[in-house]
Amino acid sequence: MSDSATDSSSTDSQNTDSRSTDSSDLPRVNEGGDIPFTHIPVLSKELIEGVVSRPAGVYLDATVGGGGHSELILAAAPESCLVAIDQDEQAIAAAQIQLAKHQERVRFWHGNFVDYDPGGLQFDGIVADLGVSSAQFDIPNRGFSFRHEAPLDMRMNQQQSLTAAEVINHWDEAKLAEIFYVYGEERLSRRIARRIVERRPLKTTTELAETIFYCVPKSYRYARIHPATRVFQALRIAVNQELAVLEKFLHLSPLWLKPGGRIGVISFHSLEDRLVKHTFRESELLQVLTKKPIVPQEEEMQQNVRSRSAKLRLAERLV
Ligand SMILES: C[S@@+](CC[C@H](N)C(=O)[O-])C[C@H]1O[C@@H](n2cnc3c(N)ncnc32)[C@H](O)[C@@H]1O
Repeated sequence: MSDSATDSSSTDSQNTDSRSTDSSDLPRVNEGGDIPFTHIPVLSKELIEGVVSRPAGVYLDATVGGGGHSELILAAAPESCLVAIDQDEQAIAAAQIQLAKHQERVRFWHGNFVDYDPGGLQFDGIVADLGVSSAQFDIPNRGFSFRHEAPLDMRMNQQQSLTAAEVINHWDEAKLAEIFYVYGEERLSRRIARRIVERRPLKTTTELAETIFYCVPKSYRYARIHPATRVFQALRIAVNQELAVLEKFLHLSPLWLKPGGRIGVISFHSLEDRLVKHTFRESELLQVLTKKPIVPQEEEMQQNVRSRSAKLRLAERLV
C-alpha cells in the first residue's frame, strides 16, 4: 500500500503529484511545522494568458490553494488587485504566506466559492483550478489518500460536518454503489458497496482500501491502478459535493464578470469538464474561447504528473 504509483487514476491524476520542488522555503501547514504545503500550479502560462489582460484589473482566484496561480496573476498585472478564495483554512494560511509581498493587493475569503457574495464588485478575470491540491492529498491526516493510514475525513473545509467516515459507515448500500458508479465510474460499484456494508464500521483510509482490495477479482487487484482509487475519488466528490457546487458556480460566476472579462476553469476529470463545457456553451452571457479544451504540453506532463489530466476552458463575458 506504500507505492504512490498505485494511488493514481486515469480519470483523476490529482492523486499522482510529482514533487520536485525544493520544500525548504515553502509554507508549513501543521503546528509542528514539519509538513510543507507543496502544490505546483498547472497550465499556468495558458491560464494567465487566457484570463489576465488588464494590468490594473480586479481578479478573482476562486481556488487559491497554495497561491501559485494568484501569484502569477499579480505578477502579470502589476497594478491589479485580487480576491483569493479557498474553503480550506490550511490553504488560506499557506497562500497568505506565499502572497505576503503582495498583501496590499490581496483580499482573502475563507469559504465555498458558491457562497461568496461579491457585492458590487465586478471582475476583469476569474480563475478556478478545481479539485484537491497536492498538499491536501499529501498531508496524511486529511484522509484523502490511502497511501497514509488516517481517519476517513476528506473534507476540504474542516468546519463541514459531513466526513468520509459518515458516508462509508452510515449511507445505505444502494447509495454507496450509486456514488461509486457515478462519481468514480467504478464498474464493480455494487460488489464493493456490499462488502463495505458487511465490514463496517471502517475507521481508516487503509482499512477501506484493504476492504476494497480483497473483494475484487485478482486481475483487478493488480491492474495499473490500485482498485480503491476510483472509490476514493467518488467519496471525495460526494463529501465535498464537488459537482453540485461547481454547477452553481458556473451559473453564478459569469454575473460577477465585467463585459469583456474572462473566466478560466481547470478541471481534472471528465465529469467536471463536461459540466464546464456545457454550462459555458449554454450561457447567454458568455462567448466560449476554447472550442476544444487546452491541455498541458508534453514537457509539463513530464515535470508534473498531476497535470496529465488537466483541461482548461476559457470564456469571455459578452454584455
Ligand atoms: C487544485 S487546488 C488550487 C491550487 C492553486 N491554483 C495553486 O496554484 O496553488 C484546489 C483548491 O481549491 C479549493 N477548493 C476546491 N473546491 C472549492 C470550493 N467549492 N470552494 C472553495 N475552495 C475550493 C481546495 O480546497 C484547494 O485548496
